[in-house]
Parts: sequence; C-alpha cells; structure tokens
Amino acid sequence: MKTVEVSAPATIANLGPGYDLMGMALDSPRDSLRASLVKSASDEIEVEGIGGDTISAEPDQNSSIVAARAVLRRAGVAGYGLKMILKKGVPPRMGMGSSGASSAAGAFAANFLIGSPLSEIEVLECAMEGERAACGSAHADNVAPSLLGGIIAILRYNPVKVMKLRPLTGVEVVEVAPEVEIAQEKTRLAREVLPASVMLGTVVSQMSSFALLLMGIMNNDPKMAGEGISGDRIVEPARAKLIPGFSEVKKAALGAGAYGCSISGAGPSVFAIAPQGMGAQIGERMVDQFSEAGVRSKFSIHRISEEGAKFV
Ligand code: HSE
Repeated sequence: MKTVEVSAPATIANLGPGYDLMGMALDSPRDSLRASLVKSASDEIEVEGIGGDTISAEPDQNSSIVAARAVLRRAGVAGYGLKMILKKGVPPRMGMGSSGASSAAGAFAANFLIGSPLSEIEVLECAMEGERAACGSAHADNVAPSLLGGIIAILRYNPVKVMKLRPLTGVEVVEVAPEVEIAQEKTRLAREVLPASVMLGTVVSQMSSFALLLMGIMNNDPKMAGEGISGDRIVEPARAKLIPGFSEVKKAALGAGAYGCSISGAGPSVFAIAPQGMGAQIGERMVDQFSEAGVRSKFSIHRISEEGAKFV
C-alpha cells in the first residue's frame, strides 16, 4: 500500500470581472488529505475538520475521490481503490474555494501515488472533474490556483490553457465571512442567478474592467488591479442580491482605502485587496457595515501565496 499526505490552499475565484477565468491562492487555510492506493474494487473517504459533516463521503459525490479517480482513469490504472482521510481547513460553501482545494488535493495525491504519469495540465483537468461533482460545472478558477499556486489566468477552456501570474506585492487580502443562511447547493444556485445574455455596452465595460485587472496584476499595480476587481458589471450585480448589505460593505471597504473589493468566488464571503498594513482596519469597517445590515460577520487577513498543492 502506498500512502501520501498532501495539502491544497483556499482560493478566491473570479477576482471581480474574471468570472471562471481568474483566481488566486491564499496562504491559509488549507485542506489536508491522506491518500492510499490499495488493491480493492472500491474507494472510501472519511471527511473531518471544519464543516466536514456537511460534505458527502459518497465516492461519486466527493470532490477529492472524483478528482483522484479521474487521474487513475486518465492514466489507465485499473484494479486499485483509493482510501482517503480528508481534513477540511477551508470552510465549505463560504466562497473560499473549498471544493476546489479538496479536488486539487485529490488529483495531486492520486497522480503521485501512481508514479506521476500525468502532466500538470492533465492533473488540472482531472481536478476540474471534482468541481463538476461538487457544483455541476467544471470551472478551473478555484482548482487551478489551488493546484498551482499564485494568481492564475485561465486563457482557454477547450483544451485548458492557464498562465501563472506573479502575486501582487505590498498588499493584504481581507476576507469577510458573513453569517447568512447558505444552501447546500450554493454555487449551483449562485450560477443560476446569472443573466443568460447582456447588452453589448455591458460587455465593453466588463472587458475594460478585466483589462484593468489583468494589466494591473501583470504590472504589479494594485491600484489598477483593484479598479478592475471593483468593476464587475455582470456577475457581481446579480449575486449582490444574495448577500444582505453587500453594496454598503463594498463602499465601506473602498472608502477605508481598499484598492478593490468584490464577492469572493460565488460568495457569500466578500474580499478586499488592501494596502500592506491596512487590512485589519478595512476588515473592521466591512464587519461594522455588515452589522448595520443586521448581519454578523468576521474578517481574516491573508496573503496571496505562490504555493499550491504540496506534500505535507
Ligand atoms: N467561477 C465560479 C463562480 C467560482 O463564480 O461560480 C465559484 O466556484
């Protein structure tokens, strides 16, 4: 029996206008996964840690197993089963890439267990199957940064092509988690509220924001990147209705000096990019503003991390 222990980080997807196309890895929290390859016809997983009791341990519904199984299938490995213990560090359904971290860890571990026959991009494609199991859509903007670290731009989906960008420096990431009721199928529902079509003028504005985001990151210009992050005209307005007080919280963050602010992934958490050393005061303002809307919340401060999935 071969065993490996790995971990994969929380991520923030979309970064405002980059719906399904941009995401970044955070330094914490992480999911940890202990995985073994055994001579068996079946797979098994135990899930523990934060929110672990809300995650399915059914092999065909669990992101880690589905992603790992996709690796075995792709590599043509038959006659083996996976035994896993997943310790959740990334809180499920908060918009911090929980299923992405579990998927990335599963695919990364499985590839190692069978002697690393798959390329990075093939492992990524398998990890995306874990996302599909979790929310019905194989988007890569959480799994790619969780697997590869840094800020990832997804340049193409079919076939998948990604580019790793250097993290912005001189910034802190403020993540504010509101205590709101969250459906089990949160991401699926948050995707269903999005408009099926938009006006051309909206597309032009969105492309402008995306250009600011991408060029801001590439030039290590957080002010420019932040303007892009705050300028989502399509996804954020549709999802803002699901987060009580969102618009005021965003205004408070920008008023307190944040470079940019938007919904973290599919929400309900909200994130802001803050100048180094200002994260706590911006986080406090955002929490106060959520309180004004009758919502309890708490903030945490993170760094953008170069590290993706790794061996423990
Ligand atoms: N791009 C995805 C979304 C990220 O916004 O639905 C959340 O999983």
